[in-house]
Amino acid sequence: MTDPLFDVSKEIVLITGVSGQLGAEYAGAMLARRATVVGLDLAQSARSQSLADAGGVAYRFIAADVTDAASLRSALAQVQSVFGPPTVLINNAAIDSPPSAPPEENGPFEDYPESSWDKVMNVNLKGVYLCCQIFGAAMAKANKGSIINVSSIYGLVSPDQSLYEYRRKRGEIFYKPVAYSASKSGILNLTRYLAVYWAKKNVRVNSLTIAGVFNQQEPAFLDSYCHRIPVGRMAAADEYNGSVLFLASEASRYMTGHNLVVDGGWTVI
Ligand SMILES: NC(=O)c1ccc[n+]([C@@H]2O[C@H](COP(=O)([O-])OP(=O)(O)OC[C@H]3O[C@@H](n4cnc5c(N)ncnc54)[C@H](O)[C@@H]3O)[C@@H](O)[C@H]2O)c1
Repeated sequence: MTDPLFDVSKEIVLITGVSGQLGAEYAGAMLARRATVVGLDLAQSARSQSLADAGGVAYRFIAADVTDAASLRSALAQVQSVFGPPTVLINNAAIDSPPSAPPEENGPFEDYPESSWDKVMNVNLKGVYLCCQIFGAAMAKANKGSIINVSSIYGLVSPDQSLYEYRRKRGEIFYKPVAYSASKSGILNLTRYLAVYWAKKNVRVNSLTIAGVFNQQEPAFLDSYCHRIPVGRMAAADEYNGSVLFLASEASRYMTGHNLVVDGGWTVI
């Protein structure tokens, strides 16, 4: 029997970045609890395709670019015509410079390219603003909604550059770049702004700040990271599902404008 506090079986859940590692996790967790899920991403991945196979009529994938208002409006129209207004929005899509990015991307701040700043800000911050504007407006009109904006420990505190010392020691020039952090910080106050703005419309807006997820990272990185984090390990990909369920459901109905930090203790020291 479902605990009514955490019941999401009547929710229409939109998840951006559903083709990625965590978006697919959130979608699977919601589908397992009988929510209707609409996954948005630039393209399907094998993982989001498998959700479609397993989710049946309760799951739909829509190709959409979070930086393109027209594509988001078209996605909203499709969702509304098939399922009705969305009731939960998980703003999960984001980009970061991969560790293998060209040297100027991961080089000193003094040389960080303006074009990289624009690209990251466009997806990670403007994309969240557009999704909130377009999908959140539909929620406000329907007087019901919960928006979950996914941030990062690197949006709450600075990246610890000493973590990457092992790369510099082996002759690489590597600093965790600035734009990802700045974009994830921006999300925190966009959340607070909208929480107040929509407070009387029964649309709750919260952030979820998470730490690094294990994804076959190289051993030298894992050593460095796990030494720094109090719990001594990276998160498993399913370890944020409970927080997403909490924020999406009635269990958190008096919570808005909050930043829920689930980080293995990273930000407490
Ligand atoms: N994985 C981690 O260790 C970690 C740590 C902290 C925070 N986060 C945050 O969690 C979220 C998910 O991370 P992830 O590891 O699953 O990332 P991921 O790279 O696996 O997935 C991100 C998804 O976003 C999609 N995307 C990128 N640009 C888009 C656009 N313009 N329009 C639509 N979709 C777009 C990508 O195609 C991809 O499928 C992100 O917000 C990330 O910043 C992740």
